[in-house]
Amino acid sequence: MNARTPTKDKISLEGLSLRYASGVQALDGVDLQIESGLFGLLGPNGAGKTTLMRILTTLLKPTAGMARVFGHDVVRNAGQVRSMLGYLPQDFQTYDQLKAWEVLDYYAILNGMTERKPRRTRIDEVLTLVGLADKRNQRASQLSGGMYRRLGVAQALLTNAKLLIFDEPTAGLDPAQRVRFRNFLGELSRDRVVILSRTSSPISARSATNSPY
Ligand SMILES: Nc1ncnc2c1ncn2[C@@H]1O[C@H](COP(=O)(O)OP(=O)(O)OP(=O)(O)O)[C@@H](O)[C@H]1O
Ligand SMILES: [Mg+2]
Repeated sequence: MNARTPTKDKISLEGLSLRYASGVQALDGVDLQIESGLFGLLGPNGAGKTTLMRILTTLLKPTAGMARVFGHDVVRNAGQVRSMLGYLPQDFQTYDQLKAWEVLDYYAILNGMTERKPRRTRIDEVLTLVGLADKRNQRASQLSGGMYRRLGVAQALLTNAKLLIFDEPTAGLDPAQRVRFRNFLGELSRDRVVILSRTSSPISARSATNSPY
């Protein structure tokens, strides 16, 4: 008998599979339980990290199996699931002509933060959290690649979500920012679930080619 109840796990995947219309089987019967804290999805290019994250964010429907977020089925209770999460897509792009704070203002309004004063306060908080307070008036198009990525992280933090999904959050960050971000994730995951992905080389391929990368 399995003593675990379905709702005890914060995130629960059972036999999760996804086959794209092209015929590619991106996920094939994934079973996974996440009870708390920080969870890293590590894998080489094409392993299915983004696919799994897009299912959890309700953007893709599994072709078999199920996924639950805090007990809510991602297909049947998609609205509930969406209201509980913050998401940084791998290909985060935004309105480049807007200033950094305006980008966040736009996402905050979309997220239902209709009251101006608390919204502006929260925007300043998240800009500080990601180390972009001094760039608040800079247009997104004028941010460096790493700063742009951090703006993407900032928009995911706006609503104080219970589940944060970051797809390759440290791509393009310099070593100092990576260390800072890792510490930041540790803090974030104390009272919420944080799932992040990172590309890793398969060890066998690495040693086979003797490549330093
Ligand atoms: N829209 C799509 N249509 C068809 N196949 C897709 C689609 N998106 C991804 N795939 C395929 O599904 C598999 C998993 O892709 P996915 O993007 O989930 O991998 P990943 O682990 O996120 O890779 P990366 O490290 O490059 O981001 C790959 O074989 C990919 O080619
Ligand atoms: Mg990916």
